[in-house]
Amino acid sequence: MPHSSSTQAVPSSSAVPRHVAIIMDGNGRWATGRFLPRVAGHGKGVEAVREIVEACAVRGVKYLTLFAFSSENWHRPAEEVSLLMRLFMAALEREVGKMHANGIRLKVVGDLTRFDDKLQQMIEDAQRKTANNTAMTVTVCANYGGRWDVMQAVQKMLAVRAAGDERAAGSRQDAASFKEDELAQHLAMAYAPEPDLFIRTGGEQRISNFLLWQLAYSELYFTDTYWPDFDAAELDKAITSYQQRERRFGRTSEQLIEQKKAS
Ligand code: IPE
Ligand code: IPE
Ligand code: MG
Repeated sequence: MPHSSSTQAVPSSSAVPRHVAIIMDGNGRWATGRFLPRVAGHGKGVEAVREIVEACAVRGVKYLTLFAFSSENWHRPAEEVSLLMRLFMAALEREVGKMHANGIRLKVVGDLTRFDDKLQQMIEDAQRKTANNTAMTVTVCANYGGRWDVMQAVQKMLAVRAAGDERAAGSRQDAASFKEDELAQHLAMAYAPEPDLFIRTGGEQRISNFLLWQLAYSELYFTDTYWPDFDAAELDKAITSYQQRERRFGRTSEQLIEQKKAS
């Protein structure tokens, strides 16, 4: 069953965010602040990923989504890009077995065609191996961009309609009849509910082309802490901040109280 959209109905909420999405930023500055090469920060960042995956699992988060490499990160120096790819492969090699043993399903979303064949194969194998796990879903966004995602979903949606129109012998459907759900089902993360809590580390307060469609009603949390320093205690601070907020989804506070009483 598809997840309900926050723009249409009030999603069920729980004390622990069901879906946490993170822009893991600040690796480079963490390293340069220590007179280390930027790549040292990325290495340390992988360790933080391990800690946060575990902490989320323990706290009952069902979906954890991590922005690892954006469509725009190809603009970085070639050396840094190639090191990031190597780190990604090494992390897959090392961590997938452990994730599988802990019941974690791994998904990698983004335009994967630009990665080399070996990496694409590793991603496919990791996804296949963990496909039936249900404890938690960890999604790594790699060569991902929110605009890419919306565009590829539009293309798929139009292709489905065109095929339908052909079968119905040219009775073309009106463009105005497209519904939100018709598009949303083709987004790369259609298998997950929309993020409840969005976290960005590293001090910048922007979305940087992350999940543009799905963040419509997510609670946003920004911290100056660099990603390599983001640990379980930092995660708890973000979750505590989330728990103190009232998510209204366009309604009034009074309506939400009534709705709660009725349910
Ligand atoms: C995030 O850290 C990691 C990636 C974008 C791959 P950065 O590398 O952007 O670190 P800063 O922002 O330069 O400190
Ligand atoms: C966003 O970080 C992307 C990832 C963390 C993968 P960037 O460091 O690339 O974002 P900008 O360039 O500061 O917006
Ligand atoms: Mg950055």
